[in-house]
Amino acid sequence: MAVTQGQARTYHQTALGRMVLGDALDALAAVDADSVNLIMTSPPFGLVRKKGYGNADAAEYVDWFRPFGAAFKRVLKDKGSLVIDIGGSWIPGQPTRSLYHFKLLIMLCEEFGFHLAQEVYWWNPSKLPTPAEWVTVRRIRVKDAVNCVWWLSPTPWPKAGNRRVLQPYSPSMKELLARGYKAMKRPSGHDISEHFNRDNGAAIPPNLMAVANTDSNGSYLRYCKEQGIAPHPARYPVDVPEFFVRMLTDVGDLVVDPFAGSCVTGEVCERLGRRWICIDLVEDYLRGAVGRFETRTDDLRDGKGSAADRNYYRIPRPGILWNGAEDAPLPADGGEKRPANMTAARAKTKPEGRKSRLASREPTAELFERGGRLT
Ligand SMILES: C[S@@+](CC[C@H](N)C(=O)[O-])C[C@H]1O[C@@H](n2cnc3c(N)ncnc32)[C@H](O)[C@@H]1O
Repeated sequence: MAVTQGQARTYHQTALGRMVLGDALDALAAVDADSVNLIMTSPPFGLVRKKGYGNADAAEYVDWFRPFGAAFKRVLKDKGSLVIDIGGSWIPGQPTRSLYHFKLLIMLCEEFGFHLAQEVYWWNPSKLPTPAEWVTVRRIRVKDAVNCVWWLSPTPWPKAGNRRVLQPYSPSMKELLARGYKAMKRPSGHDISEHFNRDNGAAIPPNLMAVANTDSNGSYLRYCKEQGIAPHPARYPVDVPEFFVRMLTDVGDLVVDPFAGSCVTGEVCERLGRRWICIDLVEDYLRGAVGRFETRTDDLRDGKGSAADRNYYRIPRPGILWNGAEDAPLPADGGEKRPANMTAARAKTKPEGRKSRLASREPTAELFERGGRLT
């Protein structure tokens, strides 16, 4: 994989943006101070198993990131935002998590004065059950399927509006609106007034985004195949940057993705009328990214499945199915000793009869699952 050294240069240009080939620190040095409305990015993660583009080791991650923190602070407008999608990682050889992404967040706030506007979580329902050793072999951890998305800002008052990212009411909320909700003070102390009964046409989303990272880049993949280019191995789905570009910028604003990979951020901005700069070190990634701007941008949403499947996820209550005998003991050593013969171990823990446990639902708890209402 050819990593570009030396001067950053414009690689490709569109009506609204440009791709820059080179190190983000060099490229950002040429961007005016206080000129950027949003930095929307997914940096290389401190993964245990390194990917082709060379992740900084988790322990050194914060040191590696520090100069980028300074560059981001310099180019951002006061009312701008810095949004970082970052996956967690595991400590090599043991079933515990690295703290690197939390340390990154704390470093950016404490050393560069960023404010944590909000932490958002991106749940990828299509994530595979990894790391296999802890999740599927020893069965002592659950699937790691959520990325942290740190939304930071130079001041406590970044430009933002949640009316740009509304979602449909859930069926139970619609039912409640039809039935009418009796105003009352809840045991939690929350005062639910009769305003709760007002149908505002849509709901305010929670800080959990459910987006499957499957085939949301159909036209990009087609282009890479036609051109014989290997697709970028760690793309995020368009819905992730689109949420923040819509909520945090206006038409004509400037968005920068310093670790742009296949330029998903650029493609979203081009479609939404925002100016953009996408920077990456690896020419092959930008070569493939050019395809995003040679096809119709409304091709972006050509994922598989019906519209209903793509627009909704059903989230089961945790632990709703119990796949094991109620009294089967937990591994007393915390799973430290790997069962010698996995087949024998599996046979031992196989439930005699598959039991399921469905707790009774409390209608009041359900109300709060739906998130807030428009005011
Ligand atoms: C997680 S990927 C981004 C993927 C991108 N969000 C997408 O959807 O295609 C991180 C990218 O950062 C790039 N990168 C790493 N260090 C860089 C640097 N110093 N300057 C510019 N790009 C860098 C890597 O080449 C890689 O493509």
